Amino acid sequence: MREILSIFIFIVITVLFLYHKFSGNQIKKEPESKAFCGNVFTSESRALKSEPHIAKAKCAACHLYNRDATGPNMKYLSLRQPYEGWFQDFITNQDSLVTAKDPYTLAMMEYSPVEFRHNFQELDTTQVKELYEYYVE
Ligand code: HEC
Repeated sequence: MREILSIFIFIVITVLFLYHKFSGNQIKKEPESKAFCGNVFTSESRALKSEPHIAKAKCAACHLYNRDATGPNMKYLSLRQPYEGWFQDFITNQDSLVTAKDPYTLAMMEYSPVEFRHNFQELDTTQVKELYEYYVE
């Protein structure tokens, strides 16, 4: 009788052990980001570039990279922009694109009723380049 009891207890312990090992506890949460060769990748594999000061100061209040906010998200901008150099033209002189009736600009302005024109003429070429590298490239 004692032997049967010992075997029973052994089986119960084995079953509990196996259950613990292979149950949901196995699934580990994926880390938020991984460092790889000095670059940090988010779960979406976007290389997290450090946000340039100029973007924080002039753009971040309305634009998030991944999500729409007051302004549209900036993801895949490189695929959306209608011609090379559009980004530069747009942020420094949106008015000129409106005057020229650039179809992409006009369509994109339907995004929200916010009347905001990107005429950041005070930005120098280095700053525009920094913004381009951060948001588009
Ligand atoms: C006050 C809010 C605001 C600020 C600040 C702002 N934007 Fe915008 N942005 C918008 C809105 C709203 C749109 C949608 C188009 C429109 O209505 O003009 C837009 C559109 C854009 C687009 C077009 C996106 C697309 O999907 O094609 C780009 C690029 C852009 N902004 C870049 C910038 C950059 C770079 C800065 C900083 C230098 C900036 N914006 C600052 C509100 C803002």
